[in-house]
Amino acid sequence: HMIDRGGFDHYMLKEIHDQPIAVAKTIENRCDIEKGQINLRKMTLFNTKLKEINRIQIIACGTSYYAGCLSRYFIEKFTGIPVDVELASESRYRTPTVNVHTLSIAVSQSGETIDTLQAIKFAKANKAQTVAMVNVPGTSIGHECDDECMLYAGPEVGVASTKAFSAQLSALILLGLTIAQEQEKLPKEKIAEYINELVKVPSFIEKVLTLSSKIKEIAKKYCDVNSILFIGRGYQWPIALEGALKLKELSYIHAEGYAAGELKHGPIALIDENMTVVCLAPKDQYYEKTISNIEEIRARGGKILSVGTEGDTELKNISNDFIGIPECSEIVLPFLTTVPMHLFAYWIAVHKGTDVDQPRNLAKSVTVE
Ligand code: G6P
Repeated sequence: HMIDRGGFDHYMLKEIHDQPIAVAKTIENRCDIEKGQINLRKMTLFNTKLKEINRIQIIACGTSYYAGCLSRYFIEKFTGIPVDVELASESRYRTPTVNVHTLSIAVSQSGETIDTLQAIKFAKANKAQTVAMVNVPGTSIGHECDDECMLYAGPEVGVASTKAFSAQLSALILLGLTIAQEQEKLPKEKIAEYINELVKVPSFIEKVLTLSSKIKEIAKKYCDVNSILFIGRGYQWPIALEGALKLKELSYIHAEGYAAGELKHGPIALIDENMTVVCLAPKDQYYEKTISNIEEIRARGGKILSVGTEGDTELKNISNDFIGIPECSEIVLPFLTTVPMHLFAYWIAVHKGTDVDQPRNLAKSVTVE
């Protein structure tokens, strides 16, 4: 391949470590820290009438879809505008509710995924304003949309998307803030505060990356399991879904992501001493409730691998293994709990000897419907 692995054994590991720079490049210039504003010109939304939007639709597949699901918590909070996140392959099968006041965002690393392309064409035909959020210049999706809000993650080679996910998340959060700024949905000081937090994301990710060798050791213990559940609440839920997706893609271990609160409505029946559950439980607004879910898993003998806040002995004590991430603000947090998901799947795959960069049956960009 033309791009070198930069001394890493796999592209995926390199790309996991590229995340701080991917996020920095995607938000740099667009955030005017001094003015506490978003630089509208750098968002390149020249044809989109952000002031007129009353509905947002995010269209994507795979990991890009999960970035959309995650961003929704933030965009709705910032703007008060309802956000639908739709799987591209399904979005056309519903009666279109889009119109000129809808902002349809096609999120795609490659910019070539056929389902996403078809879905955004459909939204456009139904008069939505369309934005391509892509990581590659000159793509079909970029060409199709009214505007292009680029990701600057740099070329991604590993089939399993990592740094593009973090870039997508940062760009979507920024887009949410941009709409809030344009529609005056948040006080100026609040926007400035969020921008200040967002620019700290790269250095926080650096800190989490230092956990790689620890996660490598932990992963050894879980290589031979048949199935793993991933749970999280609120915006940790899409991260649980992404963690499960990564694991099945890379290691061929069956994995399922679930909303922590839904455990009692089904998956809890699966819990016994043979079941491992990855629990996302950092100290956030969902913490107490997630802890009680973890207690229920523990009471049934399930093995618990938790991702929580550094120094949280309460969580550590009820877990078989614990990965501690630094304390940080709410806007930084999802970036930090994502990284251990990547590393866990990566190291399990390496221990199992599967083809990390090119897992069986998968393609980097899917151009069939
Ligand atoms: C494929 C890749 C995934 C990716 C998905 C969507 O399935 O293997 O890593 O998330 O396509 O790709 P896109 O380029 O549209 O983000």
